[in-house]
This record gives sequence, C-alpha cells and structure tokens, in this order.
Amino acid sequence: MSNTIQKNLDYKKYVVSSKLQYFKPHATKIQKTYAEEISSSLNRDSKFIDPKYFYDKKGSDLFEKICSLPEYYPTRTEISILKQLRDELPSYLDENFRLVELGSGTSVKTRLILDILVKLQDTTEYFPIDISEILTESSEQLLKDYDGLHITGLIDTYEGGLQFLKNFDDKKNLIIFLGSSFGNFSPNDGYKFLQKINSTMKHGDLFLIGLDLVKDKQILESAYDDSQGITAEFNLNILSRINDELDADFSLKNFSHYAIYNEKKQRVEMYLKSLVNQSVIVSKSNLLFNLEKDELILTEHSHKYKLSQISKLLHSTGFQIKQTWLDDKKHFSLTLASKN
Ligand code: AVI
Repeated sequence: MSNTIQKNLDYKKYVVSSKLQYFKPHATKIQKTYAEEISSSLNRDSKFIDPKYFYDKKGSDLFEKICSLPEYYPTRTEISILKQLRDELPSYLDENFRLVELGSGTSVKTRLILDILVKLQDTTEYFPIDISEILTESSEQLLKDYDGLHITGLIDTYEGGLQFLKNFDDKKNLIIFLGSSFGNFSPNDGYKFLQKINSTMKHGDLFLIGLDLVKDKQILESAYDDSQGITAEFNLNILSRINDELDADFSLKNFSHYAIYNEKKQRVEMYLKSLVNQSVIVSKSNLLFNLEKDELILTEHSHKYKLSQISKLLHSTGFQIKQTWLDDKKHFSLTLASKN
C-alpha cells in the first residue's frame, strides 16, 4: 500500500478483503460542494445542473438500462469495437500495466480489457474511479470471476481520482475513459481534463478513449429520447436526488424531458422543461427560485466528434496517437494514445 494514499486525509479507506479496498472522500466534503454547486447553478438566468449528479444509485441503474436500449447505439457499438481490440491491443501491453478506469459504471466493457490483461499477467491490478458507489458492487462481481485480480477503487470525481493517482507508484497505467463520457464536458473543461490526464501520465503509460462520432440527427435524437421513456426517467431522477439529498421540493410532474441535437455545436442538449410557472425551494442550498412555464434547465451536453477533431484535440493536449479503431458504420471510435 502506497504511503501517498495513507497520508491522504481527505479520504476514508475501506478494506473489504485482501483483494478489494476502496477509498471515499469524507461525507462532509461531498455534501458541502453539492449544496453550493446546486445553489449557484440554479440561482441564475440560464439554469443548469451538472450531469455528474445523475449518478446516484438509482441514476446509475437507469443509465445501465439506457445502455441496452435499442435506440442507444453507443454502448453496443463500443463493445463491438472493444472485441476487435482483442487481437490488436496486446501488442501495446505487457505484464507491468495496471488498468485504471475513469467512470467504471458497468463492468461489461472493463471485462473485455481485463480478458486481454489477465492473459499477459499472473496478477492484474484494477483501479476503478467512479463517483457512484456502484463501483463496490461491480468490483465484488469481478473478483468472483477473475482469480488473479486485485482492486483498489476510488469513489470520487475524475479530477479527485487523477490527483490521487498522480505519483502513486512506478507501475505503468493503462487509463481507459470509455462510453464517450468525455463528450459530457464543455469543450474548455474537456481540454483541461485531457491536459490533466496527460500530466498524470508517466512516459510508457497509455490512454484509451472512446468517443462518439457525428452522425444523422435522427439517430442522435432518438438515442437521447427513447420510446420506453427510460432517458426521460433518468433525466427527471436528477430532481428526485436533489429533493432527497438537499431537502428540495421539486414536483416531478411539473417537468418534462427534452433532448435536441444542435448540429452547429455538434452536441445533443438535454433539458428539463418547466411545464408551469413555479417556485422551488432547495433548503440545504438556502435557495428559493422561480421557473417560468417552458423555461429550460440544462442537464447535459453530449458532444459528438469528427475524426480530424479527435486527433487535433489529442495532439494539442500532449498525446501521440497510436491507433484508432472504428465500427463498420463509423458511429463510434476508440483511440489509443501515449504521452508525447
Ligand atoms: C454518460 N454519457 C456518456 C451519456 C451520453 O451519452 O452522453 C449519458 C446519457 N445521457 C442520456 N443518455 C445517456
């Protein structure tokens, strides 16, 4: 166990078994930030809620459901590309790589990478970083299925996780960031985030990123407004979470889900639309605010990329691209890069 971790007073360490431990920031740290952030993002003219708040237990379960919806092509497409990597990724790896995953969520995709690593290693280390506690459940399942696996999980934001990982030890890291979660950042925050990943990396480390590609508007809009209404439920759940955790009084029947593709900005925009004139109280944020009928609260941007933009983005943030893989329809991409 690294001294860096033990000295980190912001985290509490939980040892579940000799093969599983995880770290979590002290509750007060999370609560305070959450109440303050919600207060400033709703107390303004163009209101928004940071999409990271989607992922409480219920939100993470709903997201899992989204991933297997017929309209939501990204997950199954990325999985089909990961299967192609079975033959090609091993040539970039060796017995010294630890798998670090940003936003572990489901372990289906993780398994495809672990399958590759366990063939090269006697013991494989997996370091998932996820804001949601879903990490502990999926880790226990992984340990049942992979004998030589050791897991150190971190329940925190990506930024917290990367800070934690910096100078962790000399072992090489394969950092994976799948599902086009990167697309949920603003371009500016995304740029800074890639720089941060790059500065966390040592020479010899690798970074694998999954990014969704620009495509037909109709395919995109139905992926974010499915016929079973699961994405709507996922979107509205962010209000239930604020009700439960910050003692707010959002009435969910007064909001509807709204998703649209903005071609110029190359992003799906997801909103909660107020169906009536209303006021809302968020007690723990000391906030009372008004919403007019049809007023929108932005909950998510999901950016889509052209291949030329991906290579420009990675080069400008200090990476060297090793290889890019696509599916047959060119709907989704996986890019492997090293530190330049
Ligand atoms: C997590 N993230 C990549 C998803 C996306 O496609 O932007 C979140 C999502 N929102 C609605 N459906 C899925």
